[in-house]
Amino acid sequence: MILKIKKNTAFIASSLPILLSFAGCGGLVRGDIADAPETTTSGKILSLAVLAPSGHNTQPWTVRMNSATEWVVGWERTRSLPAVDPENRELLLSIGAFCEAASVAASAYGFSADIRTVAKTNFDDRLVELRFAQSTPSGSMIETLKKRRTIRKGIRPQTISSADREFISKNVRAKIFFFDRDSAQGRVIEKAVFESNVVQANRIEAVKELSAWIRWNDAEAARMRNGLTPESMEITGFPGLYVRHFYKPQDVLTDSFKQSSIDTVKDSLSSYGCWIVIVTDDSSPKELVSAGGDFLRIGLAAQQRSVAIHPMTQPLEEIGFSEKLTSDLGIKKPIQFILRAGYAGAYSDPASVRMNIKDVIK
Ligand SMILES: Cc1cc2nc3c(=O)[nH]c(=O)nc-3n(C[C@H](O)[C@H](O)[C@H](O)COP(=O)(O)O)c2cc1C
Repeated sequence: MILKIKKNTAFIASSLPILLSFAGCGGLVRGDIADAPETTTSGKILSLAVLAPSGHNTQPWTVRMNSATEWVVGWERTRSLPAVDPENRELLLSIGAFCEAASVAASAYGFSADIRTVAKTNFDDRLVELRFAQSTPSGSMIETLKKRRTIRKGIRPQTISSADREFISKNVRAKIFFFDRDSAQGRVIEKAVFESNVVQANRIEAVKELSAWIRWNDAEAARMRNGLTPESMEITGFPGLYVRHFYKPQDVLTDSFKQSSIDTVKDSLSSYGCWIVIVTDDSSPKELVSAGGDFLRIGLAAQQRSVAIHPMTQPLEEIGFSEKLTSDLGIKKPIQFILRAGYAGAYSDPASVRMNIKDVIK
């Protein structure tokens, strides 16, 4: 979710001296809270694994290290999203992205990772066992892991070239569809994304949950190190300055915020190249973890080709949309991700914050 901030001009005028004193200062970004480098290989791998994407950036993963090479990945209840993700479907996808990031990081240090989903349900304490074994180091993707980010603004209207589509889908195990924005299927997805966003913006539990995960000011972002920040939502410049200093959690519950959210979705849908849809055989924990891994790989490949990836998950969260989409698109299997995509206007350094790994280890 990203926001278009409507400026209250009278208020801004009266606050101008304060605002000017902050002018030019961007909000907190990931690099501002960098930790000291890890010294052990497992610490290095874990500090790269946590760069994985997660819904609302809750970073729901936990790790128990039975040994440096045997990890058990679980989840933290207080970092789940019951209002928008009551079945923990998206949580399992985030866990899959985390495990894949661990695997990609490990390969740079000469280890291969076996990712074994052990969960029978999406709510089991133990979700995945990760085992690392020595192998020949493969080309390092560490820089790409560090640079990957969600891009929501400034996506160009051109579609993604067939060479880049091939590159992006290369290592994907799930079924992946590309639908151009102006195709019949593209229009069906666009309509579902817009309408589901309107439904969600009116669903108070979802809005309250979102509000609890937005870190409006830098001090809170630096303390919590998770959730969405103005910079990560690409609210920069003057609007960023304004929200960082004056926005409060309760502002998210107002009608003007609701309208801003809907306007932002309209803006997003006015420029992009195509939709990427990820589909699995079923929605078992194993398939979800695997699809989360695919999502990470898509993000890494996209980063290398300056392609922006913006998940727009609301049709998969609001009742009725998913079933209608699978039927309208003629896809008979469950959709796990709907990604707005296209060439990025700018690929700036990642802004979203990450927790310290000591708070991830159980
Ligand atoms: C399962 C899942 C669902 C997501 N859904 C959305 C979404 O609906 N809208 C959005 O703007 N971002 C969505 N995201 C992106 C996250 O907000 C983003 O990964 C997180 O804030 C961390 O930022 P980063 O990807 O730049 O590292 C989703 C990510 C995941 C893994």
